[in-house]
Amino acid sequence: MRVTLLAAQSLDGFITKHDQAGTDFTSEADKLHFRKALGGFDCSVMGGETYRVARDFLRTRLSTQRCRVVLTRSPEAYAAEAVPGQLEFSNVGAATLVKDLAARGFQHCALLGGAQLHGLFFQAGLVDELWITVEPLLFGQGTPLLAKRVDVRLSLLSSEKLSADTLLLKYRVQR
Ligand SMILES: NC(=O)c1ccc[n+]([C@@H]2O[C@H](COP(=O)([O-])OP(=O)(O)OC[C@H]3O[C@@H](n4cnc5c(N)ncnc54)[C@H](OP(=O)(O)O)[C@@H]3O)[C@@H](O)[C@H]2O)c1
Repeated sequence: MRVTLLAAQSLDGFITKHDQAGTDFTSEADKLHFRKALGGFDCSVMGGETYRVARDFLRTRLSTQRCRVVLTRSPEAYAAEAVPGQLEFSNVGAATLVKDLAARGFQHCALLGGAQLHGLFFQAGLVDELWITVEPLLFGQGTPLLAKRVDVRLSLLSSEKLSADTLLLKYRVQR
């Protein structure tokens, strides 16, 4: 199983603008890239907060092409929203979750935030690649890319302009 973190951030490293939840700050170029990129993943994982922000949008876009798993401490609270194989809620540890998904035959997992989930996955050594969109913005404050202390070295795989001002940087995590 390969795990790739996909996120869009300001140049100064924030995945939300100040205290505004969601990703309204991202460019059309990033939205296009994100939709296209997600097509290459057969499963994805996100945290409860990210799910609650994107919930209405997400629930209209479920498909059998990708299993979405929400990590939450209260999976039972979402029983009515669960669609096995498409939208699942789990309270197992990150390593167990990735192992379980691999055992079910999934191969490419997109880690879709937010900062707490990024931290959990990095601390467990579960992230293989990062695909980071850097928007030409400075926020000074907001939700950081990572909510936990980590010490990770990366190798740059590629850098690409998604538009005149927006960059896509792909990194591999050095083991
Ligand atoms: N710019 C981007 O690319 C991007 C990407 C993703 C998200 N975002 C934004 O980032 C914000 C959310 O980030 P966040 O860091 O606040 O939250 P988050 O990582 O999305 O979710 C945190 C939640 O995950 C669950 N969780 C955390 N650790 C867990 C564990 N060990 N076991 C089980 N569940 C666990 C809990 O859910 P429960 O509370 O349900 O228990 C916790 O409240 C949102 O505003 C979102 O829109 C931006």
